[in-house]
Amino acid sequence: MPTTQILGTGLAVPDRIVTNDDLAKLIDTSDEWITQRTGIRQRHWVVEGESGTGLSKIASERAIAAAGIAPDEIEAIIYATSSPDHFAPGNGVFLQREMGLGHIPAIDIRTQCSGFVYGLSIADAYIRAGIYRTLLVVGAEVQSTGMDVSDRGRNTAVIFADGAGAAVVRAHDDPSGSAILGWDLHGDGAFAEKLWVDAPGSIYHPRNQAEHFDNKSFLEMDGKEVFRHATTRMPESVRAAMAQAGVTAEQLTLLIPHQANLRISEMVQKQLGLRDDQVYNNIDRYGNTTAGTIPIALDECVRAGRLKRGDLLAITAFGSGFLWGSAIIRW
Ligand code: COA
Repeated sequence: MPTTQILGTGLAVPDRIVTNDDLAKLIDTSDEWITQRTGIRQRHWVVEGESGTGLSKIASERAIAAAGIAPDEIEAIIYATSSPDHFAPGNGVFLQREMGLGHIPAIDIRTQCSGFVYGLSIADAYIRAGIYRTLLVVGAEVQSTGMDVSDRGRNTAVIFADGAGAAVVRAHDDPSGSAILGWDLHGDGAFAEKLWVDAPGSIYHPRNQAEHFDNKSFLEMDGKEVFRHATTRMPESVRAAMAQAGVTAEQLTLLIPHQANLRISEMVQKQLGLRDDQVYNNIDRYGNTTAGTIPIALDECVRAGRLKRGDLLAITAFGSGFLWGSAIIRW
């Protein structure tokens, strides 16, 4: 049975940088508050004319170049985003069209912050089932256009940001080589409204209502509840994936946690007993790009030489749903 190898990665963020001080000019907040509570110093936000599809095209082209393959070798796209360019269709087909990838399937998944972990699990299942051998997995978001950039929305506006990451994954035929060694995926809809965007939604008649614009269409978050669950679920899930993979925390070369909040990452690290050099964080520069955080961080680690073939990588995510999950990857 083939295993799954991540062959090449890429990232793209908008050029526009929004610092904490920039936000403090718009809303009642401060660089000190944001840095202390979240670890974020700046983030990238789109300007008019930029899109999730556009960012993911750049990230995907970089991933394809890094993989050293031709674009027409891609057999399927798995595109994770909670902030698609349009209500329907999803961004997968727009990416396919913009990249001229031919009539390949494009699957959009909506598992928010856990999007890349879930997307990779689907790619792995296709590869191991022998259905496709080369896939493009994308995690990308444009969150800034859905933020309430006012005092009312200050608990989310300072956290969420825009960016895209992509990975070319390919079937690998050496059983002792690259592989996804263990998976752990979960969901708990009891907490769906703790981190959500209520409208537009088909539950409303009609779906689009002017009055929703100001009270239901922004991302809403119960920060304390998210914090409490994230710091429990991520370590629990990494442990479950490590058990499946037959790997211990000491053996991990690197953990890339979803960049929700630096304090969450630090608590996950502590609970797993990992050293600083075993954990990668870049939230200070990018904020929380939801499905984008893990592939963006992964691309930075690969290009900086933090991962070499044979190393053991853990990825873990938690977010809206609540949905969470982890994977152990032999790089
Ligand atoms: N700037 C300044 N003050 C802010 C603020 C901001 N951006 N956002 C909230 N506050 C204020 C609140 O209004 C509150 O003021 P009050 O005490 O006068 O009512 C105070 O700060 C504390 O708010 P609270 O929500 O209790 O803060 P907290 O300690 O829980 O920290 C978070 C808020 C969002 C940083 C924290 O809950 C958190 O990190 N949660 C996890 C969020 C996350 O990771 N989300 C992504 C999931 S994928």
